Amino acid sequence: MLLTRRHLVVGGAAAVASVSAARSQGLVATSAQDLGPFYPILRPSDHDADLTRLKGRSGTAMGQPIQVIGRVVDLHGNPVRNAQVDLWQCNAAGRYDHPGDRANPATLDPNFQGFARLATDRDGQFKFRSVKPKDYDTPIGRRTPHIHFAIDGRAERLVTQMYFPGEPLNEADFLLKNAAPRESVIATAIERLSGDPQALAFRWNVVLGVG
Ligand SMILES: [Fe+2]
Repeated sequence: MLLTRRHLVVGGAAAVASVSAARSQGLVATSAQDLGPFYPILRPSDHDADLTRLKGRSGTAMGQPIQVIGRVVDLHGNPVRNAQVDLWQCNAAGRYDHPGDRANPATLDPNFQGFARLATDRDGQFKFRSVKPKDYDTPIGRRTPHIHFAIDGRAERLVTQMYFPGEPLNEADFLLKNAAPRESVIATAIERLSGDPQALAFRWNVVLGVG
């Protein structure tokens, strides 16, 4: 198609309008973060939204239970439906279920799932139950507690990490330091859910720049 000056002007106006709409909603794309070395090589067959229990086992994961709820939206605030949300984390002792984390003196938890693959619903919402991950050492510094995410939207894959508010190690974390904007990767503490009073509850909304 031959682009005329009018097309360019109209296209430019639409782009300006969409940017202003996003700004008026205060929406800014969630910062990308490193994938890290521990994306599961073998994903567990149980990868549902309750990471504190594994199918076929009666025990529950050690640690402080948490609930995380959130939405995946685009810059206009529209829900990104059926986005694939992969998440993985260390357990409450700071150990990943990954061969690359073998030197870690912390022990594995046989009742902890460690990975989940979720899909957002019609409103772009996702929700999972897990345990609070512990901080851990790396050769280049200590990591503050975080959960890794790889989110496949309609036209975009966002690899990032979610952090917890008020953590003393947040200030020093060498990856959180690179997040821009920083607030986009820090969850908000919310009131505990009535159906799950023992779990700390957090909200974390994800904004995809493209959708
Ligand atoms: Fe990590």
